[in-house]
Amino acid sequence: MRKEVCTVTRPAYHYRPEKNWINDPNGLCQINGWYHLFYQYNPHGCQWGDIHWGHARSRDMLHWEDMPIALAPDAGKGEIHCFSGSCCKDEEGRPHFFYTSIGCAEDGRDCVEGAQQWMAEPTDEAMTRLVQSDEWALTDDMHGDMHITDWRDPYVIRWKGQYVMVLGGCLDGRGCILLYTSADRKHWRYRHVLAMAEVSDGVPWECPNLFPVDDRMVLFYSPCGKVMVRVGTLDEEMRFHQESEEVLDPGERQGYYAPQAFHDEAGRTILLGWMPDCDGEKAAERKGWSGVMSLPRVLHIREGRLSAEPLPGVESLAVWHPMALRPGHTCLAEHARRMMARLHCRITDGPLVMTILATADGAEKTTLTLTSNGEMTLNRDQSSLADGPNKTPISRMVTLGEDGSADIFLAVDESTVECAVNGQWLSGRVYPTSEDAAQAWVAFDGMIEGKIGLVEEE
Ligand code: FRU
Repeated sequence: MRKEVCTVTRPAYHYRPEKNWINDPNGLCQINGWYHLFYQYNPHGCQWGDIHWGHARSRDMLHWEDMPIALAPDAGKGEIHCFSGSCCKDEEGRPHFFYTSIGCAEDGRDCVEGAQQWMAEPTDEAMTRLVQSDEWALTDDMHGDMHITDWRDPYVIRWKGQYVMVLGGCLDGRGCILLYTSADRKHWRYRHVLAMAEVSDGVPWECPNLFPVDDRMVLFYSPCGKVMVRVGTLDEEMRFHQESEEVLDPGERQGYYAPQAFHDEAGRTILLGWMPDCDGEKAAERKGWSGVMSLPRVLHIREGRLSAEPLPGVESLAVWHPMALRPGHTCLAEHARRMMARLHCRITDGPLVMTILATADGAEKTTLTLTSNGEMTLNRDQSSLADGPNKTPISRMVTLGEDGSADIFLAVDESTVECAVNGQWLSGRVYPTSEDAAQAWVAFDGMIEGKIGLVEEE
């Protein structure tokens, strides 16, 4: 049986605006207690296009209040899209925004060859509107003879008394991250290539982020594929010394892309990503929306690698029940389209198989497997009876404890799945068609302890 129409796939405890297209989180910051999320937004449709900055604010990054569109392309300045960017606070804690301005090809300002980096300033404390200034624009000619294409996504931090900006793009066809410095946020100097792809395949590296976490520098980027993260240090010359590289989250356009990190007023480093929809071309029109934000994750360095935990507070969205499972095949919950789980077990002989969003007859089900060699996979081949959704598996390696131990966090919200094992995450989208695809099971040969949480509709 094939079904065309998906039932409820709209996430309930993940942020998205009422309708239309969204992608990357932008300009993340916290000002006087309020968290601000800006995001790539098409106010006129549910496909990518006519890119503005949408805006929402929150006291806890879990319950969001929609705000008016913050940044709109300024036609008078030849601008047609406001691409991704970030917020950087000055010495007094005032926020300033940087983003990529795209114009028309006829004006030599398309996204491949003619992107410019502009600044925008808020008009009031609630940041109801950001007003662009092209007075301090960065233009490609600052690189001399270098041939840079797809130059975009400024990410700016204040570090050791100066401003540091990274930008993504392609240099001679190789994806790259470029670094710039400024004493006053307005006059920028190009320094060098911070990182570059080994192959020249014309694929740009997008949305780079460079920021300190604990005693390390973290560099991540979205290379039109799996989001990658490097941990290392930055020297006085602004050169990055890499100590490790791994996948940050393998979801890419099927679950997790273009994340952005920022430091909040409590000094925490918080990460938020875009969870793209992948339910087929016609689905967005039918639903009237596309794209959702991930759950916020708090970053730390643990044993030399980046580790992420759900923001404390995420668990308060659910009503929890303790559990201890004996070896075998056990039902976790019956009505669990919106659920979370915290599980602890030792994957010595593995595998652990968690089945979610399953119908009683198993006609629709999604499974997450974790094997004893640390491979985690989201299997989506039976996740939906509809033809449209992408059903390829999503996999990554995770580091298990020496005794095989795995601390697992799982969050399911209708069509979003996010799973962390020992702080390493995998996210994906799935589209069950049946409202009864709501059971959760665990199959495992060992003992499992933990708790399971159900998220009620508000
Ligand atoms: C990443 C991205 C960015 C760009 C934006 C445009 O998803 O392609 O590189 O600024 O989306 O919406």
